[in-house]
This record gives sequence, C-alpha cells and structure tokens, in this order.
Amino acid sequence: MNNSPKKKIEALREELNMHNYNYYVLSNPTISDYDFDLKLKELSSLENQYPEYFDPNSPSQRVGSDINKTFKQVTHKYPMLSLGNTYSREEVEDFYERVQKGLNSDFEIVCELKYDGVSISLTYIKGELIQAVTRGDGIQGDDVTANVRTIRSIPLKLHGNDFPDEFEIRGEILMPWSVFDQLNKERADQEEQLFANPRNACSGTLKQQDPKIVASRKLDSFLYYMLGENLPTDGHYENLLKAQEWGFKISKATKKCKSLNDVFDFINHWDIERKNLPVATDGIVLKVNSLTQQRNLGFTSKFPRWAIAYKFQAEKALTRLLSVSYQVGRTGAVTPVANLEPVKLSGTTVKRASLYNEDYINQLDLHINDWVSVEKGGEIIPKITEVDLSKRDLFGEKVQFIKICPECGTLLTKGNGEAIYYCPNDTECPPQIKGRMEHFITRRAMNIVCGPETIEQLYEKGYIRNVADLYTLKNRRDELISQLERWGEKSTDNLLNSIENSKSVPYERVLFALGIRYVGETVAKKLASAFHKIDFLINANVDSLMQVDEIGDKIAQSVVKYFSEEKNIVIIEELKKQGLQFELSEDIISKQTDKLKGLTIVISGTFEKHSRDEYKAIIEQNGGKNSGSISSKTSYILAGDNMGPSKLEKAQKLGISIINENDFLELIK
Ligand code: IVH
Repeated sequence: MNNSPKKKIEALREELNMHNYNYYVLSNPTISDYDFDLKLKELSSLENQYPEYFDPNSPSQRVGSDINKTFKQVTHKYPMLSLGNTYSREEVEDFYERVQKGLNSDFEIVCELKYDGVSISLTYIKGELIQAVTRGDGIQGDDVTANVRTIRSIPLKLHGNDFPDEFEIRGEILMPWSVFDQLNKERADQEEQLFANPRNACSGTLKQQDPKIVASRKLDSFLYYMLGENLPTDGHYENLLKAQEWGFKISKATKKCKSLNDVFDFINHWDIERKNLPVATDGIVLKVNSLTQQRNLGFTSKFPRWAIAYKFQAEKALTRLLSVSYQVGRTGAVTPVANLEPVKLSGTTVKRASLYNEDYINQLDLHINDWVSVEKGGEIIPKITEVDLSKRDLFGEKVQFIKICPECGTLLTKGNGEAIYYCPNDTECPPQIKGRMEHFITRRAMNIVCGPETIEQLYEKGYIRNVADLYTLKNRRDELISQLERWGEKSTDNLLNSIENSKSVPYERVLFALGIRYVGETVAKKLASAFHKIDFLINANVDSLMQVDEIGDKIAQSVVKYFSEEKNIVIIEELKKQGLQFELSEDIISKQTDKLKGLTIVISGTFEKHSRDEYKAIIEQNGGKNSGSISSKTSYILAGDNMGPSKLEKAQKLGISIINENDFLELIK
C-alpha cells in the first residue's frame, strides 16, 4: 500500500534528507523554510503516532549539520541547541501560558529579532577572543576563528574590565542586503552561480579557506546569548546591555515585555518595520529574562522551554497569470518566465516570476488566467508556489512549453533525462550571439568597459556580429558617433581605447573569454599552461587534453568540439590578426620550471606569505600537481596554520613529509 504510514514516513524522511543536504552541504536550498518546517512537523507527528517506526537517524532527530571537513572540529562546551518555532500567534499564547504555569510567579519576556544568518559561538578569555565555532550539528562545529576575526563588528579585545574571566557569547553572522546584492551582481558578471539569499552567501563566505576573501565580504554580526559561570547579572536583557558596553553589537530591537500584549505589540511592529532593516530577519524570538527562571524551566530533548521563535510567514500575494514568455541565454538554455498582473509584494511591485523549467510548469498544472500565489522568501526572484484551482477560468489554455526558439525559430532540443531545453542555433540566434559578446567583454575576461546596452545597440545597428567585429569598430569612429544614440566623441573614444587595451590581456584570459562550454577561469589557466600556444590547443585531441590535471572527458570533448567548428577558427584567426594574445607570455614561461615534476602536493591550513590560490598556482608553474586529499600518492603536505587534526593523523600514518611555507619556497628557489 502506497499510502501506509510507514511508506509516508519513509518518503518524508527521504525528502527532508535531500533538502537538508541541498541546504547544508550545497548551500543551495530547494524548499522554503516554511514548507520544510511543515513537512518536518508532519513527520514528527506521524512518528509520535507510530512509535514502532522510530529511527535514530530520522531527520526529525537532529537539527542539521553544517560541518565542513576542511576546518578543525571543536566540541561545544555547552551544546548549541536551536529553538522550537511556530508560525501561529495561538502557539505564542500557548508558550506564554506554559511559562506562566511552569514558573507560577512573575516573569518578564525579552523579545528580539530572529536574525537570518549563520549562528556562531564566540569564546572570550581574559577579554580576548579565543575561538569562534559554527553550530555544526549542535555538539561539534567548525573552528572558523581566522575568518571571524576579520568581521569588524566582533570585538577582538573587550572594553572595560568587568567581564568574566571566561565566557561564551552566541549570535548571528550576517551579510547585509547591500553586500549580498553587489556580490551577486559580480557573480552574474562572471557567469557564476548566484547565491539564493544572504544566509547562504554568508555561510559560503565563512567556509572560505582564505580569510582575505572573508574580510572583503563585509560581514556583520548581532550577539544575543551569553553563557558562562560568572555572568554579570541574573537577567538575560541586563547581560546583553553589559555585552554592549564591552563592545559587542547588540540589536536595538530588543525589548523587555511584561505582558502578552506587549509581546504582540512588538511582533506587529517588527512584522512591518523589519523590511527597512539592512539585514535579513525571519521572525521574533521570545525568551524568559531571568536566568534562574530559565534554569527552572529547563530544556526538552531538543529545545529550551524558556524560549520560542515566532516565524514570519513568507510573503505571498495572489494574482493572475497573463502569459508565459521564454528567455534564451548565452548557452542557448531556454527559461520560462511568468508574466503576472502587477501585484504588491514586500514593498515592490511584482510583474514576473520564475518558472524554472517544463517540469515545474507541469507540476503546477498551470493554465493561462489562473489565479496564482507568488512568494518572495529569502530568494531574489519571486516564484509561483500554488494555483487556486477553484478560481480556474474555463477558457484558460494549459501552458505548453514552446517547441521552437522564440528568438530564431529553431526547433529546441533537450538531452535525455535533462530538464532544460536548448536552442541549438548558436551561430544565428541573437541572444546567444549577444550573450557571448557580453561574456567576452566582462572584467575577468577581456575587460572592455561597456555595458550590455552598448552591445545591444551595436548589434541592432549591425556593427557587430561576432567578437572579432569589436576590433574593427575603430575604423568606423565617426560613423558610430553620428549613428548611435547618446554617443559623443568622448564615450566613443573611451570604448575604442578600452577595446585597444584589451589586446594586451593575457592568453589564459582570452581563452576564458572565448566562452567555450565548461571552460571557466580555472580550466582556461590549466589549458594555457599545458598548451602554450592556441595552435597547440586547436590540434589537441581528447586524450592529450585529458593528460592535463583536472581536465576530464566532458571538458576535453567540449574543447575538441569547439575547435572542430570552422566558424570558431575563422574568428580566432581574425582575432590573431588584430593582435590579441594567443600564446603564454615569455615572462610566465620563463617562470615555469619542472622542479616539482612528478610530485603531488596537498595544501592544508592558512599561510602568511602567499594565499592558498597563489600556492596552487606556484605548484602548477613548477610542474607539480595539486590534490585536495591525502593518499599514498601524496609526495608532500604544504602545511600552514590550523592544519586539520584528521589530516595530520592521516599524514603521519602514511609517513608523508609535512613542510611549512618556508621549506616549500626554498624547494622551488
Ligand atoms: S537564541 C538556546 N536569539 O535561530 C537558544 N537565536 O532556531 C539559542 N537566531 O540557532 C538561540 N536570532 O541561529 C536566539 N535573537 C536570537 C536569534 C536566534 C536568530 C537563530 C540562531 C539559532 C536559531 C534558533
């Protein structure tokens, strides 16, 4: 029976495990928090109803793990529990009554914002920051001290002298919306996958191996929970005020409430006001103020009985689906977009929503004129989450994914088992051509200073049909000035100069700029150092390409396919004539040695003289091979500070030499 409770429990466990993995390991959530919590509640209640199916490994039995193997693991002195949470005001009332009954005396509730970032536990000894650890699985977390030290709002030395000798303070690390928007803009420019929300961007940042990158991301923090033996007072709120004096960032939206009415006033106020905050919040946390009373109430197996989180509903709005349009990207991928009757949502007017792919449309069973629910959680682009079938218009046609490219009329193709349709007409389909040119000019590729609107105009007026045409624009300077809208002498000259300057961009970046599928920046670098001239690369076959470190079958096939097409060779010849760099510079070649030939090196920890990426490049330049994991094939471990204990143990077991950065630099001198 498909509907048996056992089957249902198993299906929910499997689904929740998948979402947990996507969220914690891949930093790429596939479900809203609200829906996740609903499913988890459904699972817990089924498990309570049918205790015979208990499983200690059920997702209901743990709080999730963000443990990352490359950081030192630290066991929390006090486990880092999370909070029971609710979306209903009645349950907030129930909580209040439970506390009242449990204590049977007066009490105060501290209301705080629930910040949506990455939770952290900081240890201070004698007023100095000693350690910063992520929650991990609540028992053990990652030691991210080096990264956390870069966060300006976290004090490294405390002010004053009335702090306990040793204590912990917990809080949230956050990425402000402004930083998140800028970061995603840069990632979009570089065709990198975007972060779904500031929380994921923040977690990805804290897991960086290079603290310099962390520092550049301008993270922020709010602290909200102090733990230790000799805390200054018996009041949570009063302790936070002390912490503020010592230099911690404590939210001004923290209020002591004496009644349930006060609590709801706080909730109502912040449900609206939170939209004006510079960081993401997803609810309100209620805590009993007195620490003695907290101890009296104690904990359940998972949560404190003295606190609860009230979570805001993801904002939804109901509107009508007017039509579906289809966008074609640089690689020919076709993305469906819903055009909606404009509706207000989280302070902005929403007219479009993401539909992802054909399967998503079919799952919703979407019809034109349907009333649909649009949601904007922590995500950037609103999405349709539901169709109100009761309001379905009899005449609304079912949405059918298009069969031909909306831009060039070519029949679309779809790989076996794939969800995405592609337009195969890469030579004539306008958005593909324009997309390739936009990629070509980006900062990390040819760094030609002009925006997509300029490319659009130049394309529409027929001045450019491929990237090589950019280099002939200089012969048409006067024509450009007279023909193009809003183009004066100065802007035209700036563009032409920038195009001219791009001729000195090094070979590996030119290779990246060509936009060969699967050849990103790193692969381009590897190919350039293995094949010093483009002609060598053009003549390479799959086997010889696969000899290069980290080049697999998929990349090798794609490179061979690209160079087997006559039209690409014609463009490369044209670019060569224009003077672009298609060989590795003498300077780089002269730095290449084979001092590390045949050696496989594992880099571990953090360094002072060069960044990890620089060390990786140095190893490659000297003919060595980088590897991420220790095995019997490892020749050396280049170890910096904070090398993980498990790596150390493995290295010792296998008898592999560990060298520090000075020894290493000596080795290649
Ligand atoms: S108190 C034992 N206060 O929400 C209680 N948590 O589900 C410890 N959070 O893991 C947590 N804002 O990451 C507390 N003002 C706040 C919070 C807060 C956000 C996060 C925290 C925790 C999760 C609880």
